[in-house]
Amino acid sequence: MTAHLYILTGASRGMGLAMATQLLRPGHSLVCISRHASAELARLAREADVPLAQWTLDLTDGEAASERLRHWLGSQSPTQWQQATLINNAAAMPRIAPLAQAHAHELANTLRAGLEAPMQLTAAFLSATSAWGGERRVLNISSGLGRRAMAAQAPYCAIKAGMDHFTRCLALEEASRPNGARVCSLAPGVIDTDMQVQLRGADAGAFPDQPRFAQLKERGLLSSPQEAAASVLAYLARADFGSQAVADVRET
Ligand SMILES: NC(=O)c1ccc[n+]([C@@H]2O[C@H](COP(=O)([O-])OP(=O)(O)OC[C@H]3O[C@@H](n4cnc5c(N)ncnc54)[C@H](OP(=O)(O)O)[C@@H]3O)[C@@H](O)[C@H]2O)c1
Repeated sequence: MTAHLYILTGASRGMGLAMATQLLRPGHSLVCISRHASAELARLAREADVPLAQWTLDLTDGEAASERLRHWLGSQSPTQWQQATLINNAAAMPRIAPLAQAHAHELANTLRAGLEAPMQLTAAFLSATSAWGGERRVLNISSGLGRRAMAAQAPYCAIKAGMDHFTRCLALEEASRPNGARVCSLAPGVIDTDMQVQLRGADAGAFPDQPRFAQLKERGLLSSPQEAAASVLAYLARADFGSQAVADVRET
């Protein structure tokens, strides 16, 4: 049986919770990071007899989270895990409004949790596991909005564009290393989660695309968190994972 370690951020709800639930399989161990723990996930892990740790950390302080991860990975035996995967899934969308109306603190928190923390966690993961013999993968959950500009979405578009581009850089670095990690920044499609509630609930006067998001829901065009999680995890498991540093699950 393969001993596979997954470190997953944002597993308390939405697609992250669905991914964590689907990863509760024999041979897997999960470390999940978000501000809240999920009692449902804890119960399912007990039932499936899969080791699960839920670290309740705020990723606006990515330095503390990445140091904890580095320290914990350093305490593991290099031969304990045959595969190790980091999934940077957590993100938060700030108030949807033109940048001119944004508060400095809110902007900083969005960038910290959505871009700074994924980079810090990735750095900690890669350095702490560099001597591990097993296969390592980093999956960054991006968005179509990292590739398409949208008014009133500058901070969210910026974190996802940043995520795509640091993943491209990382792919070049890891390709030149022996047993380098395979990395990908993947857009997961549009998913029926709290984030979509926020988008269609935004003030249409401040957000020109609000009607489009309302229609996506009305027309039943959103994936369920479970469907999206299954597609993303199937992509992660592909033999050619990492052959494209930036990808979209809908184009595979
Ligand atoms: N929904 C969509 O249509 C869509 C489309 C494209 C891309 N995505 C991307 O897919 C990923 C999952 O989205 P989702 O829709 O499932 O989001 P969601 O339902 O809003 O869940 C977000 C997750 O991130 C965690 N999180 C947020 N801020 C955090 C912080 N400061 N520290 C630690 N954890 C934090 C939340 O946990 P806590 O609240 O417990 O901290 C939660 O588990 C995100 O990266 C999102 O950008 C979503």
